[in-house]
Amino acid sequence: MTVRVLTGITTTGTPHLGNYAGAIRPAIAASRAPGVESFFFLADYHALIKADDPQRIARSRLEIAATWLACGLDPQKVTFYRQSDIVEIPQLTWLLTCVTAKGLLNRAHAYKAAVDRNTDTGEDPDFAVTAGLYMYPVLMAADILAFGAHKVPVGRDQIQHIEMARDIGQRFNHLYGDAWRAATGLDGEPLVLPEVQIDENVATLPGLDGRKMSKSYDNTIPLFAPPAELKKLVMSVRTDSRVPGEAKDTEGSALFQLYQAFATPAQTEEMRHAFADGIGWGDAKQRLFAIIDEAVAPMREQYAQLVARPAQLEEILQEGARKARDVTVPLLDGLQRAVGLGRFMAPQAAVAKTRGTAAKLPQIKQYREADGRFHFKLVDGEGRLLLQGDGHASPRDAGQVIARLRREGLDALHEMEARAVGLLGERIGTLGEGLAGVDGILDALRQLAAVED
Ligand code: TRP
Repeated sequence: MTVRVLTGITTTGTPHLGNYAGAIRPAIAASRAPGVESFFFLADYHALIKADDPQRIARSRLEIAATWLACGLDPQKVTFYRQSDIVEIPQLTWLLTCVTAKGLLNRAHAYKAAVDRNTDTGEDPDFAVTAGLYMYPVLMAADILAFGAHKVPVGRDQIQHIEMARDIGQRFNHLYGDAWRAATGLDGEPLVLPEVQIDENVATLPGLDGRKMSKSYDNTIPLFAPPAELKKLVMSVRTDSRVPGEAKDTEGSALFQLYQAFATPAQTEEMRHAFADGIGWGDAKQRLFAIIDEAVAPMREQYAQLVARPAQLEEILQEGARKARDVTVPLLDGLQRAVGLGRFMAPQAAVAKTRGTAAKLPQIKQYREADGRFHFKLVDGEGRLLLQGDGHASPRDAGQVIARLRREGLDALHEMEARAVGLLGERIGTLGEGLAGVDGILDALRQLAAVED
């Protein structure tokens, strides 16, 4: 069985060299290992908890998506998506909220720290604490449990959150396990309990002042700073006052550690000798700049291209969301039924549905017409035509319309003039013969959404 590994990236701030060496680079390397199925997502709902400037949220989300791709994350190999595109996450959040003890959330470090700060300053304990901050662990549990993740690689500060996800998942399994097995005819437990994965030898890079590189110390070097700025920042890395010719210590040297994070072992050894031989700080910094720039330059270029083409990024993320929802839609369908929120149907039919022996579902078929164009049609379970899609120049164009129909159809489909069917004002096809309006199409979309495979 492949191990399912999942990790979330909060979309705040601009990535720096410390993020790259400590998180991005090792995570991407791990995603290439055989036998793992990786899920990477932009935790943009989590970002709302920490920030309320829409422009900054939007900017940071775009930058972080582009950064991971530019650094080599392969969206063909991993599932890369935005949290906010997966509607099953907030759905599951509510199911979990209703089984989570309030006392559990009272103990969350981040919430407690906020309350302690208020108490220290004589404020009301809950001053400026949103319910979002309080609920943070439940949303994070839903992120993880919605995908049946086995392993969650995170930093030490997140261990408590993974433990809470386990507690909450276990509680849900205990309360609804039997109902879930009865409703779905499946064995096992509805939710997989995740394990935390802490990588002990991940590099922490020093920042400009020698302390850990961190936004909160304002000592960072942005990963994709233009070369001139990168050079200026590297030149300002703190060193001691030894003059050229004097031997330098590698131990405790921020410059040496930064160099090591980008150098091969042989280059590191060379630099170690240069330190012993009394290389001047100016020269050493020049070498540091060169080695970082060499590593970063190709990614920086890739990054610039991605940021300049948001539509292309959008497409990658939509494709990721589609892959992700292949997992979450069926899971949530079973969970909803387990808690008693399934659609009205005879219990046997419900079980049969999970086992795939239920009545025939509507289908969307794609095909090429004699005119060489790519068409699609939506037919109901009996094969009756509900929607005849317009032709497209490529299968991809047709596929995109189908994806939009499935995603937005329930909210945005409408009838246009002369039996045309529109999606948010844009024509996509015509009504099947004998149909009086789009209701039949909406029914079919609803059925598809419930079992999406
Ligand atoms: N809270 C995590 C952090 O700040 C980000 C995150 C959100 C996450 N949801 C997740 C990490 C799910 C792992 C799994 O780093």
